[in-house]
Amino acid sequence: MTEPVKTQQKPDGCSFVIFGVTGDLAHRLVIPALYNLAASDLLPDRFCVVGIARKGASSEGLRESLLKGLHRFATRPVDENIAKRLLECVTSIEADPKEPASFDDMRERLERLEANRATGGNRLFYLAIPPTAFAPIAEQLGRTGMLKETGGAWRRLVVEKPFGTDLASARALNGELLRIVDEHQIYRIDHYLGKETVQNILVLRFANGMFEPIWNRNHIDHVQITVDEQLGVGHRGSFYDQTGALRDMVPNHLFQLLSLVAMEPPIRFDAHSVRAEKADVLAAIQAQSEAEALRNSVRGQYLAGRIGDAEIGDYRKIEDVTPGSTTETYAALKLVIDNWRWAGVPFYLRTGKALGVKRTEVAIKFKQAPFAMFNCTPVEELAQNYLVIGVAPNEGITLQFNTKVPGPSILIDGVEMKFRYKDYFKAEPSTGYETLIYDCMIGDNILFQRADSVEAGWKAVQPFIDAWKKAGADGLKTYKAGSEGPEEANELLRRDGRSWRKLG
Ligand code: BG6
Repeated sequence: MTEPVKTQQKPDGCSFVIFGVTGDLAHRLVIPALYNLAASDLLPDRFCVVGIARKGASSEGLRESLLKGLHRFATRPVDENIAKRLLECVTSIEADPKEPASFDDMRERLERLEANRATGGNRLFYLAIPPTAFAPIAEQLGRTGMLKETGGAWRRLVVEKPFGTDLASARALNGELLRIVDEHQIYRIDHYLGKETVQNILVLRFANGMFEPIWNRNHIDHVQITVDEQLGVGHRGSFYDQTGALRDMVPNHLFQLLSLVAMEPPIRFDAHSVRAEKADVLAAIQAQSEAEALRNSVRGQYLAGRIGDAEIGDYRKIEDVTPGSTTETYAALKLVIDNWRWAGVPFYLRTGKALGVKRTEVAIKFKQAPFAMFNCTPVEELAQNYLVIGVAPNEGITLQFNTKVPGPSILIDGVEMKFRYKDYFKAEPSTGYETLIYDCMIGDNILFQRADSVEAGWKAVQPFIDAWKKAGADGLKTYKAGSEGPEEANELLRRDGRSWRKLG
């Protein structure tokens, strides 16, 4: 077991301004992540947290509510001294983009606070708010000059998902933000990039000599990306019914996995080189006509069923879901990346809610070995060769290969060689946001999405969005909660002579 090496430096002094501080995201993830950074001594010495809320709470009230949230959502036992030190630097300020003058007042208060705390004027604005508020708030921050980088101070804007709801809206939002700030100031978060195993894909591919030479169409038969969830839609009916599985998961989370698996080697491990390669590979996803999109996809909606001990009702009966809703809770797609490395290698993607098993993984399926030499043996078939990158629930890497069964005759069986993170590394449980927030503070945007990647992602899924919208209920499949998803998703691979990897 190896202890992680601590080589990280403390970030520059700064103020950490949270819009939507009274909301779920701030309580559940942002503050617990700041707490974990404080516990690892990775917050700046000169630091303040400013909580912006439309309906202003007192600083005292806000601190109490954040402390309650911290106790509820902390990933490790809370040390009251550290929590106290963190929350002491929280101030509540009221600002509402509908009342522009409130942003002028906010600027004054912020400047006073920064002078007291000697933060050097560095600011990070964290937008933990619904996406419709991104542009109006950025507009006010721009108008009041709060985002202007002057006198050596940095100013950064952190934007949460969803970034747009389709290609046109993502382009419009990029356009609006880029009128106010420069690309280097925008940090578009995708929480998948905070996951260790996701970051490890680059290391697996490019820090080892044996994978890259075979990482191409000569050796790889196809790639499967699975993000299956047991959770249903729960109380998010209103958001989810407008969104669906495709928009909620594919252009962001699944495409992060896809781009890391499929990108070319960057010339340097820096934000510019890595993000350029990721954007290029997303742009190389073959554009599909709507007819092709229909043929290369399956969408489904869950019906009542049982997951473990829990009874789950029909998706359509969830509060705030339209009774005859055609929103998909399951999506499976076949995509092709049209470049020298991947031409002819299908990428199959699937994701869904209320499924029997929770599993996030990328499975690289290698081409089968020729069978001819075993014709004269009792062997009937060879097991498939997979390299599986496990993201959840088990973080690790598994190699599946054939081996001889001990005994006098030639019998062959498929076995697995497993690396599990937890067997080798001891890491404190985290929210997954620590690295992302720390990187924002030190100005490393390698783990954040650039405008062109976001747009390339939406562009690749747009034919599916359009085709499904036109088709409405036509072609929408159903599946039982607790199952593996609609049976038709198997057909998507079966017709290519392939099958999904079995999930435990
Ligand atoms: C979010 C989606 O972005 O990701 C949720 O909005 C989904 O619907 C979640 O449940 C999945 O994240 P994870 O880390 O649990 O795979």
